[in-house]
Amino acid sequence: WATFAEDVDAILELKKKHNAVILAHNYQTPEIFHGVADIVGDSLLLAREATKVDADVIVLAGVHFMAETAKLLNPKKTVLVPDLAAGCSLADSITAQDVRLMRQRYPGVPIVTYVNTSAAVKAESDICCTSGNALRVVESFGAERVIMLPDEYLAQNIAAQTSVKIIAWKGHCEVHELFTPDDVRQLRENHPGVTILAHPECPPEVVAEADFSGSTAAMSDFVAQRRPPRVVLLTECSMSDNVAVAHPDIEFIRPCNLCPHMKRITLKNIRHALETGQHAVTIDPAIAAPARRAVERMLAL
Ligand code: 13P
Ligand code: SF4
Repeated sequence: WATFAEDVDAILELKKKHNAVILAHNYQTPEIFHGVADIVGDSLLLAREATKVDADVIVLAGVHFMAETAKLLNPKKTVLVPDLAAGCSLADSITAQDVRLMRQRYPGVPIVTYVNTSAAVKAESDICCTSGNALRVVESFGAERVIMLPDEYLAQNIAAQTSVKIIAWKGHCEVHELFTPDDVRQLRENHPGVTILAHPECPPEVVAEADFSGSTAAMSDFVAQRRPPRVVLLTECSMSDNVAVAHPDIEFIRPCNLCPHMKRITLKNIRHALETGQHAVTIDPAIAAPARRAVERMLAL
């Protein structure tokens, strides 16, 4: 069994050998996030950075939809996902057929899909969004109504900030749906003066009681710029671990929920991916073209 340090050394060598870069989401464990990743960030930053990569191989340390997005933006490059089973409860909550039915039911209403969806679902939509730009995307049509799929809570949280009427779906993130307003009250009682940040995939009642809500990158920026002495990030567990490294003077209170899909990615399977070229992401070209358009429209905003 190789130690963490041996795996890190091997991965750094393999990256050079294969001219590879590792893009890692903020929910990856610290040994990946701080140890081997070249680019780290939220879903929006990972998509943006994927357009600038000049390496031959991209390893996406994150879940499958993130690797698909990187592949859409880099059709000629090899994009590897270290574990094909790294899914997402939001991506699993909706199919391309569901989107087609929504379009039939609401003719002429623009369809925004969260990046946390399959390429087939993106292909049926007008534009994508992430938690970092959802409000801007929804308002970009100048329309009275917009369909926003599939995260019901994100849709409700955005609806609270705009006059655009939002038609939502019933998908939920299995990590963020577990937080409750009671958790927020308990935290304030047990940790006086604590600043509470909530991801917008949390239920609206949780976001309403928090001090700030934003994407994982927005939460990280909030901590760096506002420097609250005590803070809670209501999101996936690795987020606090990764942000805390840069802020030893800030007290991080850590109720958190693990994402079992994000946690499928390990140093071992990143190393294996680079050694074997597994698992290369492929997307049916008939789906890839319209899905790419939806992602590119988002990036052009
Ligand atoms: P962001 O990093 O874009 O905020 O997304 C959070 C998330 O749950 C990704 O799976
Ligand atoms: Fe999906 Fe939630 Fe996990 Fe993100 S944290 S990958 S939204 S299940």
